[in-house]
Amino acid sequence: MKINTICCIGAGYVGGPTMSVIALKCPKIKVIVVDKSKEKIKAWNNRDLNKIPVYEPGLKEIIKKVRNKNLFFSTDIKSAIEDSEIIFLAVNTPSKTSGKGKNMAADLSNIEKSAREIRKYANNDKIVVEKSTLPVRTAERLKEILTSSNKKVHFEVLSNPEFLAEGTAIKDLFKSDRVLVGGDETSSGKKAIKSLVKIYENWIPKNKILTSNVWSAELSKLASNAMLAQRISSINSLSAFCQKTEANILEVSNAIGADSRIGNKFLQPSVGFGGSCFQKDILNLVYLSKFYGLEEVAEYWHQVVKINDYQRERFAKLIISNLGAQLDKKRIALLGWAFKKDTNDSRESASIYVSEILLNHGADINVYDPQVPSEQILNDLENRLLVNNLNKKEIDEILSRVTIIKDLYDCFNKVDAIAILTEWDMFRDLNWRKIKKTSTKTPYIFDGRLIVSKKKLPKEFNLITI
Ligand code: NAD
Ligand code: UGA
Repeated sequence: MKINTICCIGAGYVGGPTMSVIALKCPKIKVIVVDKSKEKIKAWNNRDLNKIPVYEPGLKEIIKKVRNKNLFFSTDIKSAIEDSEIIFLAVNTPSKTSGKGKNMAADLSNIEKSAREIRKYANNDKIVVEKSTLPVRTAERLKEILTSSNKKVHFEVLSNPEFLAEGTAIKDLFKSDRVLVGGDETSSGKKAIKSLVKIYENWIPKNKILTSNVWSAELSKLASNAMLAQRISSINSLSAFCQKTEANILEVSNAIGADSRIGNKFLQPSVGFGGSCFQKDILNLVYLSKFYGLEEVAEYWHQVVKINDYQRERFAKLIISNLGAQLDKKRIALLGWAFKKDTNDSRESASIYVSEILLNHGADINVYDPQVPSEQILNDLENRLLVNNLNKKEIDEILSRVTIIKDLYDCFNKVDAIAILTEWDMFRDLNWRKIKKTSTKTPYIFDGRLIVSKKKLPKEFNLITI
């Protein structure tokens, strides 16, 4: 099939960057990114490139080159479906918040709704590509929806999971470790795989494009995220061990990672992994394991999430035990709200959970993040408090103890402690002498990312690491 136009339903952290890179690398293909959110599409079309909805190094430069040339952002889902030969689905698939599988299974309502729209508007053959992370065997459900009309249109469903990490998305998309395309082993399935592979061949070396059956591709995505998160929970569990034994977690991590069979990536101890995917994908894997009667497998993966919860709580408790059980009249500077550096995404950020515990113990907090907007920080906190069934009055009281700071060094005014939650580069090189001057006392430093250099830190500071 000759591909002239592709579209992507979902203009989020995946749809935006992946389609921008396809548009850049395939100038002859028209790429339309659609979303149900008018506000988001308006932001993607903003002339001020600092206002596009995703902050990602290198992204705005690409948008500048291709937007309104062969990359278009639109809310006209109908026309985009009608005009495209390939339709990517990059909608969000969060954990379900109600019904069967609540808090564990993936909520597929956005995927199913998109499939129903494709069924409705498609007037000729389409290749539908799962870009969202989905439970294994979702393609079956998609085919069921797509073919449940009397239209004489053929749909081929492929799984092409996305492996980019936020903060390095453009780098990851330019030089992917691998691109995975799964499809049916029928002749039309093979043709569809070929069409999609051809697009990636514009910039990805052939030996890095893997093809498989559709179920393997779906499962490989969940499994990759689970394996990555498992390494973080493994190293974080050892950081708790180090605290009891005076072993140094960075030295341990370094020694483990020097073994080429293990490798040194994803062994950075932290206050716990955040982001919209690791937790929900592992919980989905746990749910699916149980569904298939694999109780031991479910328990194994569940432990990765439990250690992550434990690590966040352990960090908050470290602060509380050092400052005194009651934090009334204590002010803490919280550095970083994004779930990792170089993104404005704060979904499931450890900062949300740690702040909640500190606030519940009576603390006042100053929050600084270079990319996450103030409203988003307050929304994250409010949503978390709502989950825990607090009423409006209680929520207002708690939020009144949160101050969002615009200039980094204003954060340290009269604070009792500084807690580092995100590893933004600017937090590696803090001017400790200046901080000492702005605060009336020498604050404790709680380093949840192990980025403070002991050598550069004046002796009077008390540094406590996760
Ligand atoms: P996101 O929330 O940033 O974006 C999803 C977008 O889809 C939203 O803008 C939403 O409005 C839109 N949408 C939902 N239903 C729609 C519908 N019916 N019609 C039109 N638009 C609709 O989500 P994301 O972070 O981009 O993740 C998308 C998927 O990709 C998820 O399954 C996720 O697990 C997976 N993934 C994410 C990342 C990442 O780094 N964020 C990486 C790899 C894979
Ligand atoms: C992760 C995967 O790395 C991607 O391959 C995948 O495509 C994506 O999830 C997804 O499916 O959404 P992302 O969550 O964007 O990407 O970022 P990571 O770099 O994986 O970091 C996740 C969390 O783990 C962050 O909070 C980070 O600070 C933390 N982390 C990471 C550690 O605590 N230690 C490490 O060694 C590495």
